[in-house]
Parts: sequence; C-alpha cells; structure tokens
Amino acid sequence: MESSRISLLPFRETDVDDVLLWAGDARVTRTTRWEALNSKEEALNFIKEVCTPRPWHVAICIDDRCIGFFWVLYPGSSGKDKTRADIGFAIASEYWGQGIATTVLKMAIPRVFNDFPGIIVKLRALAVLDNKASQRVLECHDPISQAVRAPTLTSQ
Ligand SMILES: CC(C)(COP(=O)(O)OP(=O)(O)OC[C@H]1O[C@@H](n2cnc3c(N)ncnc32)[C@H](O)[C@@H]1OP(=O)(O)O)[C@@H](O)C(=O)NCCC(=O)NCCS
Repeated sequence: MESSRISLLPFRETDVDDVLLWAGDARVTRTTRWEALNSKEEALNFIKEVCTPRPWHVAICIDDRCIGFFWVLYPGSSGKDKTRADIGFAIASEYWGQGIATTVLKMAIPRVFNDFPGIIVKLRALAVLDNKASQRVLECHDPISQAVRAPTLTSQ
C-alpha cells in the first residue's frame, strides 16, 4: 500500500458504516480489549462518545475511507507513570498484511511526541500473547521498536 494513500483523520459521523465493518468484526476485536460492536447505533455512539472527545482517537483512512482505528490513552492504563501513554491500533481484516499498521505507527509516533512535548516520553502497546501480527508490527520495525519499548505481552 502506497503510504501517500494512508492518513489519520478525526472520525466523522458519516464514517459510521465503515466503522461497523471493522469494529463489528470479531476477527478484529478478538485481540483487542473492546467488545465487537453490534449495530449502527453502537458504532455512532462509539464515534461520538469514545473518539470525538479525545484528540488521539483517530480514524485510519485509505484515500478518504475509514478502514481502522489508532488510539492513544494518556496516562496509560496503570495511571501511575505520567510520562507514559498506551497506544493501540486495529485495521479492517480485508486490509491486513499490506503494511498499513507499520506505516500508521511510523506516521503517528513522531506526531504524538510532538503534540505532548515533555509530557509523553514513553509509549507502550499491549499485545495479547497469541497476537503475532501486532507483536511483529511493534518489534520488527525501527524506529517503532525504539519508540515503543518492547510490547507488553498480556494474556488479556
Ligand atoms: C495487528 C494489525 C493491526 C496488523 O495490521 P497490518 O496492517 O496487517 O500489519 P502490517 O501489514 O503492517 O504487518 C506488519 C508485520 O506483521 C506481519 N504480520 C501481519 N499479519 C500477521 C499474522 N497474522 N501473523 C504473523 N505476522 C503477521 C507482517 O508480515 C509484517 O511483517 P514483515 O514486515 O516482517 O513482513 C491487524 O492484524 C489487526 O487489526 N488486528 C486486530 C486488532 C489488533 O490485534 N490490534 C493490536 C492490538 S491493540
């Protein structure tokens, strides 16, 4: 996938049908910490209540179409380390294996540090133990592996 086609954009309510395609797909949500969405109404609530209020809960877009989700949680889930944020990402299954997640992290990581200068100095990604795709995205690509210190593996 040409990186010029990939962008990170705020979610729009008109993305609702595209959001439901991947956020309602158990193959995508199986390895995340959220439940699959079941309806257009849930997808719209997800956009309005979870994503829109948060600056770094953004749509991964190919051309103008939303095909995934990149998020930053600050402070991270433990809440203790105020210099650390957690990140996560999900891509619609029909787009897996085209280098999109790798490109997204390369684009997003410098922007996240730039938006929170001196505040977020570490990023962490959680990956479930059998999530080889996520581990591969995080571990094998410099400078991602340098910016996101070894992914924390969790059994969910
Ligand atoms: C994890 C996920 C985002 C990867 O997205 P992607 O765009 O397919 O990833 P990429 O194409 O950039 O692939 C990155 C690397 O992972 C490898 N990879 C992709 N899918 C894989 C799989 N199922 N098993 C093993 N390796 C895999 C690729 O070969 C590539 O390695 P390479 O560069 O050495 O060839 C995607 O599988 C997904 O959305 N999964 C469900 C949600 C999720 O688990 N998110 C992460 C935890 S929050």
